[in-house]
Amino acid sequence: METTDTPWVGMGRRRMLCGLAAGACAASGLVRAQTAAPALTIRLSHVVAEDTPKGLAANRFQALVQDRSGGRIAVLVYPDARLYGDHDEMQALQLGAVEMLAPSLSKFGRIGFPEFELFDLPYFFPDMGVVRRITQGALGQRMLDRLARQRLVGLGFMDNGFKHMSANRPLLEPAHFAGLRMRIQASRVIAAQMRALGARPVTLAFSETRRALAAGVVDGTENPVSNFWTQGMHTVQTDLSLTQHAYLGYAFVANQRFWESMAAPDRALVSEALREALYFGNQIADTQNDKALAALREAGGTRIHVPAPAQITRMREAVEPVHTGLARRIGTAWLDDARKAMEG
Ligand code: SIN
Repeated sequence: METTDTPWVGMGRRRMLCGLAAGACAASGLVRAQTAAPALTIRLSHVVAEDTPKGLAANRFQALVQDRSGGRIAVLVYPDARLYGDHDEMQALQLGAVEMLAPSLSKFGRIGFPEFELFDLPYFFPDMGVVRRITQGALGQRMLDRLARQRLVGLGFMDNGFKHMSANRPLLEPAHFAGLRMRIQASRVIAAQMRALGARPVTLAFSETRRALAAGVVDGTENPVSNFWTQGMHTVQTDLSLTQHAYLGYAFVANQRFWESMAAPDRALVSEALREALYFGNQIADTQNDKALAALREAGGTRIHVPAPAQITRMREAVEPVHTGLARRIGTAWLDDARKAMEG
């Protein structure tokens, strides 16, 4: 049986603390913004650590807006699910409790945009250049524009990188997954991928993953190395297998009412700052993952495995049915358009 998100984390308490004392939020922007007495405040919540591609891009966005507006517009960045997590961040955005989010693309399927799950397809993208032909092109823009149906403004895409598998054993071919409970994001495509490999998918919020691994609630997970390292997952998983089997990326989104309420020059300033921050994020994504892998090697204690070509072939063959099986959910027209965009 597949579980849904478990209420392990006291988000309510955290939000209350943030309301009471700026220091309790540990959002660097909060303290800076309070001294600058901003006329406009943008709260940006995300679930990963600051020292990740997304965390660094969010902080760059904050700094650019702060500098260019002379402190008149403040961006308060809440990393690490300190304000909202996977359970409640979309609702918080739609209700205006935050102005911006940067969820992974996998998290848009459950709010009515299954086409975003095409990014989850295993062994679909040969490299990042091909992903960018979609995200930085007309098809990506069409996907962002559709978010208006849920009162969201899609502002741009950003990469993290390719995901790898971790557990307390190597995961290099389908036989290794037999019977494992694998934590996944709430994506039907990722669930199908894990089942195709012989594992049992367990949907959990990102912020709960490390503890669930430590407690043995789940046996393994998948993520780019930057997330694996900064969440300290290496302290609760002995093996990381560099399967590079699927992509993880983000869409930065804003609450539509807030976005339209901004004066046009402010909207232009914020848009340009975000465009530059996303460009920066895409530039550093690879190096952040490389740095995390180097740090992991340096720390020792984690066995790092590279699959042999024959093992990759077996993994690919096992997950091939996911592409056809999930095509209707994603939308065959979206998939056709994605394939065309990938060809360039
Ligand atoms: C993220 O990178 O935003 C989280 C990814 C995950 O939930 O695995």
